[in-house]
Parts: sequence; structure tokens; C-alpha cells
Amino acid sequence: MDQQKYQQLMNKINEAVKFENEDIEKARQMYLQISEELLNEAKTDKINRIDFLDMANKYYEKAQTLENKNEEKKSNIKFKDICGLQDLKDEIKLKIIEPLKYPEVFKRFNKKIGGGIIMYGPPGCGKTLMAEAAANEAGVKFFNLNAANLRSKYVGESEKNISNIFKEIRQNAPCIVFFDEFENLGEDRNTGTKYSRNEVSQLLQEMDGFGNKDKQVLFIAATNAPWFIDIALRREGRFGDSIFVGHPDLQARKGIFIQNLIKKPISGNVNFNYLAEKTNYFSGAEIVSVCENATDKVLKEFIKNKKLRQISMEDLETAILNKKPLASKWYDNAVRVLRNTGDNEFLEVIEKNYNHNLIVA
Ligand SMILES: Nc1ncnc2c1ncn2[C@@H]1O[C@H](COP(=O)(O)OP(=O)(O)OP(=O)(O)O)[C@@H](O)[C@H]1O
Ligand SMILES: [Mg+2]
Repeated sequence: MDQQKYQQLMNKINEAVKFENEDIEKARQMYLQISEELLNEAKTDKINRIDFLDMANKYYEKAQTLENKNEEKKSNIKFKDICGLQDLKDEIKLKIIEPLKYPEVFKRFNKKIGGGIIMYGPPGCGKTLMAEAAANEAGVKFFNLNAANLRSKYVGESEKNISNIFKEIRQNAPCIVFFDEFENLGEDRNTGTKYSRNEVSQLLQEMDGFGNKDKQVLFIAATNAPWFIDIALRREGRFGDSIFVGHPDLQARKGIFIQNLIKKPISGNVNFNYLAEKTNYFSGAEIVSVCENATDKVLKEFIKNKKLRQISMEDLETAILNKKPLASKWYDNAVRVLRNTGDNEFLEVIEKNYNHNLIVA
């Protein structure tokens, strides 16, 4: 390794150390990258091979320690914290929460624990939130996987990673395995690269291992782009159930406003029903952002004139007017792509949930 490369590596290590306190996941990714670079170095530099391997191992272990720390930091969100989405909650209850509570009942009805659900829909509407809540409700271990960490979790080819992770999953059953941003992983085998094709085949094989026997694992996948998902993954026994996670309805929007404002000083004229009515097709995340923007307005005023006041209805209405919900973009694109691919299963559901005239332009 030449001097310049060595210096770059040292800089990276220093940077990773700094991130350990600020952003654990970022630090973990950096350590993995460093470890991989060192492994590559070991391949080319025969003289110092052992030293490089040692170092690669050291930083790999560091990444793993951070991963455990990350898991401990898991949220304690529960179903009651998620507004709306009752059908999805019921499905998760049926597949894992109740069978764990009442194993005898479910056994008598020959109902197995686990299975697979794909949640699909526009961004910011509670998919990731729901997966975390599911694990907390069921009180089981939660594996949060995405294409990036499947590739990097174990240094080496991703097929080997997938197989190692599934080994860990089997050992920890009953558990929930969450594939976030699933489109990046379960990419369509016809359009995907060779790399992703191998990954998908591997994933299918591993999941089939859970299909027939009662392995007590619930697989939940989330995506904004269901059309990218290989049809083979959607087969019964793999991710058999697809559930649309759309924009919060009136009641849910009201709930999200209440959740995000109730602990703050708000004036008596704040009308939650009215706020919910004015935010049709806002995502949950966009409603959170409206509440934040109204809060910021009050605090900015305070910084300027040191007079503190409550958040008013006017602040919230202004924040709503200033926010352009991205819903129509997602729906327009979804309908266009699905009409092209002829994927009627998703298209029908999405069209049913979409009324262009109601979307704020
Ligand atoms: N139904 C909901 N109830 C309460 N809060 C919600 C709801 N939906 C969204 N939120 C808020 O929006 C934030 C983002 O939601 P989340 O990350 O679950 O969206 P997502 O569907 O996974 O989005 P993406 O597709 O972009 O990953 C949440 O952290 C929460 O604050
Ligand atoms: Mg998400």
C-alpha cells in the first residue's frame, strides 16, 4: 500500500471513530468499507497479507459491535402509536402476535405462525413504522435487512451473506424479518443485473425453506415500487399477501396531528378536525413536517423578540398551505408504470385509492 493510500485509509478510520457517537449506522457502514478495502489489499500485497487480514478482521468486528448497539437502540413504538392501517395491524396479529399468545388455539385450527407480507405504497405513510411496531407487539427479535446491509453484513459475496443471515434467522425464531426498500433487493429477474438475479434466486431458496414447515418467522417487505419486485417472490408461501399502505384517512390524519401537537403549547382554537380535512392526500410524514414547521415559526419569533406564544391555528394553516404533498407524483407514476407492465393486482388497488381531483395540485 503506498503512502497516499495509507493516509486515506487512516483518515477514513478517524472519520468512522468520530461518527460512532453521532450516527452509529454510518460509522458501521464505514468500518465495513474499511474492512473490505483491507481485504482487497491483502489479496494484492502478499508480503503484508497477514497484517492486512488482521486489520480487516478488527474493523469488521468493530462494525458488528456497532450493529448490536444499533439493535439495542430499537424503538419502542407500538400499534397504538400508528394511526389508521387497521387491516394491516389485523393481518400482522393473525400471522404472528396472536399465535404466539394462544399457541393451542392456532394449533387446533392448523394455522402456522409466520408467512410473508409485502407492504407497498407511497413514501412516508407508515410502512417502516409498522414493521418496528410489529416486532415490539410480538416481543420477538427483529431483523432489519436491506440490500445494502445484506451485501455488506458479512464481507464476501452477497449469496453467502444471505445464507449466513438465514442461518441466524432460523436460530432466533420466532422472529420478524423486515426487508426495507425491498425493490432494491427483490429486483425483477428479467430487468435486473446478474448480481441481483443471483441474490433473488438465493433469497427464494432460503424462503422456501420456511414455507412448508412451521418455522415461526414472519417476513415483512416494504416498497414504494412494487412493480420492481420479481413475480416469483410474490407467490403464495413466499410473500403471498400484498397490502397497500396508502395515505392516512381523515381519522388517521387527525390522530397524527394530535400525536404531534398535544404535548406542545397550542392555542385553544386549534381545530384538529379542520386540520385533518385540509390535508387530504398528505402522507403521515408530511403531516409531521407541517407540525414541525408551525412549531419552528413560533420558536423563530421567540429567538427574534424573546416573546413566547402558543402555536396557533393560523400557524398550522400557513404550514399546510406551504407544503406541497407529493402524492400525485407517486400515484401518477405508479399508474403509468403498472399500466405498462400490465400488473393488474397492484393497479386495481392503487386506482381505487386514487382520486386525482382530490389531490392538492
Ligand atoms: N399512520 C401513521 N401514524 C403515525 N405516524 C405516521 C403514520 N404514517 C407516517 N407517520 C409518520 O411519518 C414518519 C415516516 O413514516 P415511515 O418511515 O413509516 O414511512 P414509510 O412508509 O416507511 O416511508 P418510505 O416508503 O419512504 O420508507 C413516521 O416516523 C411517523 O412520524
Ligand atoms: Mg420506510
